[in-house]
Amino acid sequence: MKPWSPDSWRDHPIVQQPEYPDQSALKEVEKQLNSAPPLVFAEETRSLYKQLADVCEGKAFLLQGGDCAESFSDFNAANIRDTFKTLLQMAVVLTYGGKCPVVKIARMAGQYAKPRSSDFETIDGIALPSYRGDIINNFEFTEAARIPDPNRLMTAYHHSAATLNLLRAFAQGGLADLHQVNRWNMSFVAANPLKEKFQQLADRIQDALEFMEVCGIVSAVAPSLKETDLYTSHEALLLGYEEALTRRDHLSGDWYDCSAHFVWIGERTRQLDHAHIEFFRGIKNPIGVKVGPGMKPDELIELIDALNPDNIPGRLTLITRMGADVLPEKLPALVRKVQEEGRKVIWSSDPMHGNTEKASTGYKTRSFNNILREISQFFAVHKAEGSYPGGVHLEMTGQHVTECTGGAYGLSDEDLAQRYRTQCDPRLNADQVLELGFLVADLLKDARTKA
Ligand code: TRP
Ligand code: MN
Repeated sequence: MKPWSPDSWRDHPIVQQPEYPDQSALKEVEKQLNSAPPLVFAEETRSLYKQLADVCEGKAFLLQGGDCAESFSDFNAANIRDTFKTLLQMAVVLTYGGKCPVVKIARMAGQYAKPRSSDFETIDGIALPSYRGDIINNFEFTEAARIPDPNRLMTAYHHSAATLNLLRAFAQGGLADLHQVNRWNMSFVAANPLKEKFQQLADRIQDALEFMEVCGIVSAVAPSLKETDLYTSHEALLLGYEEALTRRDHLSGDWYDCSAHFVWIGERTRQLDHAHIEFFRGIKNPIGVKVGPGMKPDELIELIDALNPDNIPGRLTLITRMGADVLPEKLPALVRKVQEEGRKVIWSSDPMHGNTEKASTGYKTRSFNNILREISQFFAVHKAEGSYPGGVHLEMTGQHVTECTGGAYGLSDEDLAQRYRTQCDPRLNADQVLELGFLVADLLKDARTKA
């Protein structure tokens, strides 16, 4: 195998990349990015790696979630705060109900590039290049807006930096304090029965904290009560951007992609001889790869060996996205093969991408019921195969949107029009996330009480 370098991917075939009309402008921006400060620090990435090793060994659970695509226009403090709270709310439900530490990774501070099923989008007979995420072009349906603009790389970098700055402040500066558990309730529906259930959980936590306080266990001696670790992640699709932010760590001499703590490869760009696999094999971050229903067991082993040749726990997360109907048929053979071959991976369920459908009212949507069905079956398969269901990967927002149907208060196809805001895939809203949190907590608790 040829030696790896941050740009060795350039000698490999690549798909899903924009064609920039002005290559010299692109080179200039990549150069600027390459001298800009890294967004994350290698030591943080190593601590995530350790936490993921615990997940791999069945000692913790991974919660990864956030927007399908972040956008420059939705970039504001309230949005970041509300998605943060929604994540924390689900995390605390899982920690408490599942009796299990939860590793929290946001799909935030860099989730700006989108693979597309088609290079063109046609509306009313007019075909324009597809929108590929705010780091590449503009969502607006005009010829000019859809031209890839290299300056957007720099804008995405700055937006990511500011988002990360706020997330760090929230995680360490008080908002994540367990004494604040009541503030994380983002539910918009007054009648949501789960609000009451969350209140009961919050009361029990308050009660436990008061008891511990009497015993002298307070935040001053146990700082983990008042802060949490929240890591960042995105699909590392646009390799020019990722390369520019890849740095050699002085302590270890290893290369880290410092655009986020965790990066993943999408289902559409994981061809073994292609550029994304080449780039990922050389970075020391914990990484993920999406696994769809077309994956064959032998191919999966080859993929694992390309990305984690030393079989290190925590390095590789397989994010399965099969679709609720297909999962029971396809997942068992993959799990069995990985078990037989002794490969150490984290299995995480993305119940979103295999369950996208068109509503009768024309919207791209997902039904809560199918999302839940895929997760339940994911747990059932791992139970049957004796493997550990290590995590979930969700597209969700703290905003009061109506994009996925179903849930406790039954959003219908007709309701979708009320607040359909996504630029890309439909996201779970805070009420739906809370509901899912309680259901997954029960599944997790069951998975962890081994017979
Ligand atoms: N530090 C612990 C953890 O992150 C406990 C904790 C603090 C926590 N704030 C939290 C857990 C918010 C879940 C949500 O797990
Ligand atoms: Mn998506």
